[in-house]
Amino acid sequence: MAQEALVIGASGMLTEVSRWLARQGYQVTVLGRDPVKLSRIRDGSIHPESIHMLPQDYHQTDGLRQAMAELVEKRGPMDVVVAWIHSTAPRALPVIVEELSRPEKRWQLLHVCGSGAWKNPPSEPTSKVCNYRRIILGFTCVGEHSRWLTNDEIAAGVIDALQTTERQIIVGQVEPWEKRPAK
Ligand SMILES: NC(=O)c1ccc[n+]([C@@H]2O[C@H](COP(=O)([O-])OP(=O)(O)OC[C@H]3O[C@@H](n4cnc5c(N)ncnc54)[C@H](OP(=O)(O)O)[C@@H]3O)[C@@H](O)[C@H]2O)c1
Repeated sequence: MAQEALVIGASGMLTEVSRWLARQGYQVTVLGRDPVKLSRIRDGSIHPESIHMLPQDYHQTDGLRQAMAELVEKRGPMDVVVAWIHSTAPRALPVIVEELSRPEKRWQLLHVCGSGAWKNPPSEPTSKVCNYRRIILGFTCVGEHSRWLTNDEIAAGVIDALQTTERQIIVGQVEPWEKRPAK
């Protein structure tokens, strides 16, 4: 049976991650608010049949909980979840972890975080069956100049992380911290 993946915040910098998972043979559910943006992930994939759209606002906690329960009912337990969730939705990740852990099958969560997680790591959701791993998006320095990462650099870093077992992965660099670009 095919492995199941869920990508949250899929239609921005994680677009290529979703398509890569489909190329690896996963059935990939992509979550975001705008169905048109989600359909672009599928349209640009060489395995459109493996990409399943889930339009949902992760701020709507009850709706998100129901969407996760229905996802497990429809597709079975998830194997891998990649989550990029803005800090404006602090309830989203705990709800996702709670619902996806109900089947009691081990699954892996790659929590994609902004550079601030280097100094203030977010709390890890608790679940006996969820293997939590954190990806911190840093920045890059070229000589005296520094800049934030591009979508391609972020997607490549997340794809690399999916192929390792490290608990914390840094994409780009987080030190020297004072070289961090201005927002
Ligand atoms: N350290 C770094 O260098 C760093 C870190 C972060 C970001 N960035 C850069 O900044 C750019 C913009 O960042 P971004 O945060 O807008 O990320 P993004 O990945 O470009 O877009 C956000 C994704 O999350 C979805 N989303 C947003 N709000 C949502 C909600 N309430 N419910 C469900 N899904 C939601 C969006 O789709 P919908 O709008 O359709 O919901 C979209 O798929 C990125 O593309 C990246 O290049 C750099």
